[in-house]
Amino acid sequence: MFKYIVTGLLLVGMLGSAVSARYGQKNTIHKAIQADSGQLVYENYCLACHQEDGSGVPNLNPPLIQNEWVLGDSVRLIKVVLNGLKGVEVAGESYSNEMPSHDFLSDKDIANVLTYIRKSFGNKASVITPAMVKMQRAKK
Ligand code: HEC
Repeated sequence: MFKYIVTGLLLVGMLGSAVSARYGQKNTIHKAIQADSGQLVYENYCLACHQEDGSGVPNLNPPLIQNEWVLGDSVRLIKVVLNGLKGVEVAGESYSNEMPSHDFLSDKDIANVLTYIRKSFGNKASVITPAMVKMQRAKK
């Protein structure tokens, strides 16, 4: 009888650690993919203007570093990508180029690229989710 209890406990323990090991691994893979695809979207659609390090091009395209557009209100930030932007000042400077609308990107791509810029170039701001983008797109 004792033997069965010990074996039973052992089995439960093994199962538990196998499940949690797997779950942990899944989480890490998911995060890696999300960060990567945000970077990929950035490289394909934003880098040409805003540059690899987010520093922009003087007088043409604004930097994405430590400014209120990137770090501030997430709704306004999502709208920049969905609708494009022109004629505003960024940190007291104006830029002659125009930011084109990127509404052809999926909710997930927009969420990932915005999360990427909010966590890169020394920026630290919260995640943008596909659901948040979807909601803004529906209001357009
Ligand atoms: C054709 C060049 C171009 C491309 C491509 C482009 N942008 Fe922009 N972006 C601009 C310009 C120019 C402005 C400023 C517009 C203004 O002066 O009103 C801007 C403004 C912004 C702003 C708000 C101001 C700031 O500096 O924080 C954000 C955020 C932004 N862009 C993110 C992106 C993201 C993300 C992508 C890719 C999905 C992207 N941009 C693609 C040119 C571009």
